[in-house]
Amino acid sequence: MKARLAEILQQAAAELPAVHSRPEFEAAKARFVGPNGALTACMKQMASVPKADKPALGKLINDAKTALAALLDAARERLDAAELAAALGKPVDPTLPSPDTPNGSLHPLTQTRDLITGTFKKLGFAIADGPELESEWFCFDALNMPDDHPARDMQDTLFLPPDARSSTTRRGNEAYVLRTHTSSVQIRVMLARKPPIRILSPGRAFRRDTTDATHSANFHQVEGLWVDRNVTVRDLKSILDAFVRELFGDSVRTRLRPSYFPFTEPSFELDIKAANMGRLSDRWIELGGCGLVNPRVFENVGINPGEWTGLAFGMGLERVAMLLHGIDDIRHFYANDLRFLRQFA
Ligand code: DAH
Repeated sequence: MKARLAEILQQAAAELPAVHSRPEFEAAKARFVGPNGALTACMKQMASVPKADKPALGKLINDAKTALAALLDAARERLDAAELAAALGKPVDPTLPSPDTPNGSLHPLTQTRDLITGTFKKLGFAIADGPELESEWFCFDALNMPDDHPARDMQDTLFLPPDARSSTTRRGNEAYVLRTHTSSVQIRVMLARKPPIRILSPGRAFRRDTTDATHSANFHQVEGLWVDRNVTVRDLKSILDAFVRELFGDSVRTRLRPSYFPFTEPSFELDIKAANMGRLSDRWIELGGCGLVNPRVFENVGINPGEWTGLAFGMGLERVAMLLHGIDDIRHFYANDLRFLRQFA
């Protein structure tokens, strides 16, 4: 029996380190210590051993059992470590720099807005902001747009339900609207600051328009306002000329066409004509509205029209972007189609 035990241990010491998978390990374990294994067979033989030899042989069997357990443990630990390493994959070096992520790019409307604001900043304009949710007073009344003005028509303006009106901020009983133009920011700025004022306000505007190639219920505008002493139409023209040249190049021509807005007097449409505007080349195209601030607007915000004069202008951001890039459908801006957006990366 002594020789047999030594043989079993020798076998185990040779075989177990060569085990490389769970099934191999389980099979080896069964061969040595399982119910039909080699060690169990030896233990069964103890019954037929003479009584005097039992203590010594019993100790030998126990020693063999301990030695086998140690060999099995070592083999299991090796398998565990190998499986863990396989699950973790390649070793990671956390000190290495991360792999490059693909760069995104600014939306063409954002790029156009930045181009416009950048141009006006060079001309000394500061950027101003105002709320998209406005009371009728800021959006219409203060801008000298009387109750019966067509822009206040239910068809054009998106009104908020009456219970959404805040009793703490509204003036009188007026309704709240989604601003139909960024001209409301003029009023906010003139109420908050003393002249001279020179601001540009890009932002969202909303109208009850049905979406088509040139209309969107949610679009963007840029509003400009300059209040100072002796501001004239000549200043208006020279500022808009400088702006348009910066965007469309020196060959572009501009024209102020007489028009009407309640908040300016006189009022004009700014038209441009250039050779590099795709199918719109060499035609007069309307870019936006402008004029000298109507004295009634000054009165509404507590600025003395005898002392101060001003110019104002407003234009659609989408329109500028479409002319700059030859885009023929406003809906491209909102579809988030990467094939479109990547052309502006
Ligand atoms: N608010 C006008 C609109 O939405 C645009 C506009 C016209 C703004 C003339 C002005 C202006 O400041 O002077 O159509």
